[in-house]
Formats: sequence, structure tokens, C-alpha cells
Amino acid sequence: MAITFRRRTLSRLAYIAGIALIIRWLFFSSPPKVTERQVQIKEHNFIERATRQDKSLNVQRLPFLQARMGRDERKDIFSDLVSDGVKDYWERFQLPYIGNKDTAPMDAQHVLGAIDQLLSLNGWVAALCPTLTRPFNQHKRENAYNDLIREDHLYYVAIIIHSADHFLVDQLAVIVQMAKRLGTNNLFVSMLDYDSRDSTETLTDLCEAVLTLLGVPFRIRRVPGMTEDPSAAYYPLEEAYMRNLALEPLQELQQKRKIKFSRVIWLKGFTCPNDILETIKISFANEAAMVCGMDWAEHNGFFIFSDRWRTRDIDGDQFRQSKSSSKPDAVPPRDRLGAQRYAQHLPFQVYCCESGTHVVDPAQSYYKGIHYRAGTDFQNISRGETLPLRDPDAACLDSSQAWFCRDLWLRSARDAMEEMDRANGEIPNRRQQHRREVIEVAAHDPFMIGREEVKVKLAGGAVEEVNDKGINERKDQKKKDEDANAGSDYDAMPAEEGGEEVPPPAIGRLSIPNSVFRPARILVNPRCPTTYAGVSHTQLARDLFGDGDDDSVGDTGKYVLEDWEGAPESFVCQEQRQTGGRKATKTQRRLGFSIHEELQRQQREEQQQQQQS
Ligand SMILES: *[C@@H]1O[C@H](CO)[C@@H](O)[C@H](O)[C@H]1NC(C)=O
Repeated sequence: MAITFRRRTLSRLAYIAGIALIIRWLFFSSPPKVTERQVQIKEHNFIERATRQDKSLNVQRLPFLQARMGRDERKDIFSDLVSDGVKDYWERFQLPYIGNKDTAPMDAQHVLGAIDQLLSLNGWVAALCPTLTRPFNQHKRENAYNDLIREDHLYYVAIIIHSADHFLVDQLAVIVQMAKRLGTNNLFVSMLDYDSRDSTETLTDLCEAVLTLLGVPFRIRRVPGMTEDPSAAYYPLEEAYMRNLALEPLQELQQKRKIKFSRVIWLKGFTCPNDILETIKISFANEAAMVCGMDWAEHNGFFIFSDRWRTRDIDGDQFRQSKSSSKPDAVPPRDRLGAQRYAQHLPFQVYCCESGTHVVDPAQSYYKGIHYRAGTDFQNISRGETLPLRDPDAACLDSSQAWFCRDLWLRSARDAMEEMDRANGEIPNRRQQHRREVIEVAAHDPFMIGREEVKVKLAGGAVEEVNDKGINERKDQKKKDEDANAGSDYDAMPAEEGGEEVPPPAIGRLSIPNSVFRPARILVNPRCPTTYAGVSHTQLARDLFGDGDDDSVGDTGKYVLEDWEGAPESFVCQEQRQTGGRKATKTQRRLGFSIHEELQRQQREEQQQQQQS
């Protein structure tokens, strides 16, 4: 099956690459004649889509909104062949008919037809999405997202491509579908190609052509790797670097043009457009800082949850590598409430997530100065460095997303304190007194005391569903099929090295409990599966959501979480202490997390910075 699949993928990619080359030649090559042609096409205004009144992202008025940076201009063996063929086609069959305004609508039809044909090729699922099982019959209601669409928000779509060309066409199809629904002038697409060595280059040409024709603003950028030798890289640092680069247009548009986006959508793997729209809806309804989907990878004919590197439940524990068909006592989230809500297909609160496609509120993060970062005191093996001595409670050298989550928790806590300070009119004594009162109340909160017990019980009594045989088979398969590596779990620690062991929670309460502080609103939406090549989407949908009807929970219950918990007092830290690219060795420990102490540390650092400058 894997072989047929790969063959199909290859021929598909070859076909797409052919079309992309033609489009590239038509639009982007440098001879003056071509530029002329481009102008001709633009003048006829090929694709005049009905867009809304908001002109802030109007590419006709602001041409810089469609930018390509760092294109690879090197000639390859096909360059001449393709350019001769395309030139012939253009001059004999296209140019004679495009010369006057009357034919413009026909030309537009022609191009639109070509785009549709191109995107229908993506065999995986885009076309299949409306037929897949979803809870609450969400997908069957045509008008389910009309409210959202009417609100006319601006969305920023970010994609990072790191030698993963096999997703790109599907992702493009998703963007086109979203642009059709949300309006082409309400999206900005930022694609960052980080040192890809596959056909990403050609496929980004294709993306550029399609987005140009549709009038969707974009920046497509290619950057070289951070280190010449990929194995000398420190992956969390690369992650942070790529993500911050992909967000550069977001910051620029805000600083220079005062254009603010309502949500940032990080597309990873493949996610159905309706599921993304629903995740956006959940994000707004909860005023959430981040809402993630769930990442499922195929393995041996069934599907497993696949993001244990970055996802932690609200107790700070790792998600289980559960099957999509897992029993209620072995679902991915280990915490009681999360597991319960997962089983009901309702959004649940987590400490951290990424898990495929996720939606971030920039007002609670990027616009507040939070950027992606990573630990820096790692060991550079290429330099022959020895492992630096680190404190037992030194900061966790984990993924840049884990750092991002911690920053969200701290930001949220700080915001609440600053608001309180403002409300109290900056009177220092009253301020301190107020904070003390809040802390005292929390210390006697029976819920806080109860929670500790629940945590211990779960850690001892959890049942694992994935057996060793499956894991070994999965490992073998990884070697055979590159696509199988595509899930986020590619970055996680293998189970046989202890990746499945959850270190027990530390004993000893924090002097100032985390529950005193305003929680970060980070949610997982189990109704938004992200998948990869080779997954049978119909089967996955049936495993996850069954065929029967869901209990009716009403619109509010479906979307809104009523109670928000504070941060866990410790979390499972899975860290890369060494360079060595994505698959560098990882170790695992449990690390305390005290918002109070972290805030104090932040304050000290800020004071030091102020003194230095
Ligand atoms: C590790 O050291 C090598 C050799 O000096 C260097 O090229 C590379 O950039 C270093 N890696 C990181 C992540 O700093």
C-alpha cells in the first residue's frame, strides 16, 4: 500500500511540477516580453472576486502585499526544454486570444478552471472533507460559519516548509477554500521555506502563481539553514528562528500600516477547512490565546496521537500515544476532566499544545512582545563541547512551542496583575495588600487541595494502550516510508527510551500557588484532526467520532469552557541538551513550574537589561 501510495504521490508531484513550471515561466521569468505578459494579464483583471469593503489588504492598491523573497534562480536541466515549450504554447494558442478586453472573462474562466483542476488533484482529502464524520453534524450545516464570516476579521496564515513538499499542495487547497469563504482580502499568507532540499521550490512557485491570481496577499520566503551542516543545528533554536521569520510580515504590517490580525493560523500537515473554521470559532468564543487541533499519524492500519513532544495536559503530563479508537480510560489526555471532555468531543484546557494546525490570538501573544525562543545552554557536539553542568532545576531545554506556552502563562498572569494595579490606582500599599488577600483566598480553596489527590491517582492508575510490538513495527516503518515521519511525533522521544514514562508529580506545594494567577487560555479542539500522508481519513473520522449522533450540548456548551484551571505546579520536561538536528537525543525529567518565581525572574532580568542600557 505504501508503495502504490508513493507512486501516486510521485506522479502527482511530477504533474503538478509541470504545471508549476509553466505558470512560473508565464509569470515570473525575467525577459521583458514576459513582464509585458504579466501586465497584460493583470490589466485584464483576471480574477475579480467578490470581496468585502475592507480595503486594508487590497493587493491591487498595495502591490507590496504580494512578495517573494530569496527565490532560487539557478538553471536546471529542464529549464530550456520547458521554456521553449511554454513559449510556443503561449504564442500560438494564448496570445492571439488575449489581446482585447472582450475576451477577459473567458480568460478568467480558463485560469480558474486550471486552478480548480490543479487543486482537485490533491488526492488526499481536501475534496473528501465534506463527507467525513464530524460531531454535532457541524459539517452538514452550510451556514454554520456565516456569523464568523460576517465578522470580517483579518487572518494570518503561517506555514513553515522544511523539506515537506508533500503537504504543500493540500495546504494550498485549504488556503484557497478559506479565501473563498473568508474573502481574499481578509487573509495574509506567510510561507517560509527553511532550507528545503526537495521540490518545495517548484511548489512554492505554484503557490505564488495561485495566490497572485486569486489576489490573496502573501509573502513567500526562502532562507538558508542556520548552520551549514544540518546535523550541527540545535533544533529548538531552528524552530524559534523559522517561526519568528514567518511572523515578520505580521509585525511589519502592524508597525508600518497599523494592520492588526485577529487570529494567526499555523497550518501543519493536513486539516480540513471546516475544522479550521470551527477551531477559529472556539478560539473567539473562549477568547483563547491558543487552540490546537489533534495530530494523528497512521501506523499499521490504525492511527495514533502524534504530538508528545510539545503537548502537555493541564496537569503537565504528556499525552498518551493513544489509538484513535482508544477506550475512555486510555485517551490522549491523562487528566480526568480533559479525558472526559475529549470523550464528549468538547474542547478541553491544556498546559501546552501544538498538535498540527493551531490558532493563536496575536493580541495575547505576538503583539505583546512574545516571540518564539529556545534554551541556549545546550551542548554543541560539533565543537566537541562537554555537557555543561546544569542546575537540577535549570530551565527546560525543550521545544520552542513549550517556551511559547510558558510565556503565555506568564503573560496572562502579568496582564491580570497589571490590570489590578491600574484599577487600584497605583497605590503601592493597597496593591500589595490586595495581592496578599487573593493569595490567602487561594490557599484555602478546597478545589486546590482536591486537585493534588486526583493527580496522584491518575499517575499511578493510568492504563497504556500501545504495546511494544506496535512501537517496533512503527520504527521499522519509519525507515521505509519517509511520509510516515511527517507527524509531529517525529520530534518526540521514542517510547523505548522512556518517552512513555511519566515521572511522578513532585511533592511539596508552592508557597504561592499557580491558581492565584489568571490562567492562560490554551485549549485543544478534538474535533480538528490534523493528518498526514497515507491516512485513511474516513476510517480515522469514524474511529474518533463514531457514526451515531452526539448528545446535544447546545451551542455554548459545544464551544465554551466554563472553568479555567491554573497552571500545573510541575510538568514533564522532554529536552534536547545537544545539537544534532531534529532527532538529537532527548532526556526526560519533571520540572517544577511556579508562576510566582518565574515572574520574579522575569522582573530581575528586565531590571538588569534596563541597567545595562
Ligand atoms: C556548533 O558548532 C559548529 C562548529 O563550530 C557551528 O558551525 C555550529 O553553528 C554550532 N551550532 C550551533 C547550533 O550553534
